[in-house]
Amino acid sequence: MNAEEMKRQAGIKALDYIEDGMRLGLGTGSTAEQFVRALGEKVAQGMKVVGVPTSERTAALARELNIPLTTLDETPELDVTIDGADEFDADLRLVKGGGGALLREKIVATASKKMVVITDESKNVETLGAFPLPIEVIPFGSRVTALAIQKVAKAHGCEGELKRREDEFGEPFLTDSENFIYDGHYGKLPDADALATALNIIPGVVDNGLFIDIASVVIVGTPEGPYLVEKS
Ligand code: A5P
Repeated sequence: MNAEEMKRQAGIKALDYIEDGMRLGLGTGSTAEQFVRALGEKVAQGMKVVGVPTSERTAALARELNIPLTTLDETPELDVTIDGADEFDADLRLVKGGGGALLREKIVATASKKMVVITDESKNVETLGAFPLPIEVIPFGSRVTALAIQKVAKAHGCEGELKRREDEFGEPFLTDSENFIYDGHYGKLPDADALATALNIIPGVVDNGLFIDIASVVIVGTPEGPYLVEKS
């Protein structure tokens, strides 16, 4: 079974958490896309749901599949968010933002009663941090903000390069909210909980890709089919 098929199966498995009439958060990334496609089939068969997309990319896909969309202003309480992750650990803490959508993803997930994460086994880690930690930063004064990030990271046992993300033209990557992303190449995050809090009080930091105590289930795609890891 190839990686795409594992993601597809995880996406289909996530439909177990969806009921008629639900208000959904629709995640971003290649795995979340598999879920949105599976949901599109259910909608075509008559299922009634509304979704809040976590990115312009997901919004475009949902529209193509005729999935009714809403906003958090119209629908501030959601039942379930289904989204991917770049890493997860045994406590269901996540690193997200590889696709740059971490801010909207976190707002939507925390507006939901439940967050279901869809992944494959390659995302399961003992210690978070092998995947560079995305940090969304306001462009104004971003070099100053980056220096402050490195100080905070060091105080939390993280050393390594902090790189501003670039697009395919070598220009700064801009998020849907027109901010920069800095990726912290730290290798491991020995105290992810404290780091997540400390980063977010730096002026200029909008949010970081650590999702702590937000996910309640992770569906893990494997060649033998998906399995579940649930919050204990
Ligand atoms: C998007 O910003 C991310 O948080 C994605 O959820 C994450 O990068 C997982 O993406 P894939 O499913 O494509 O690996």
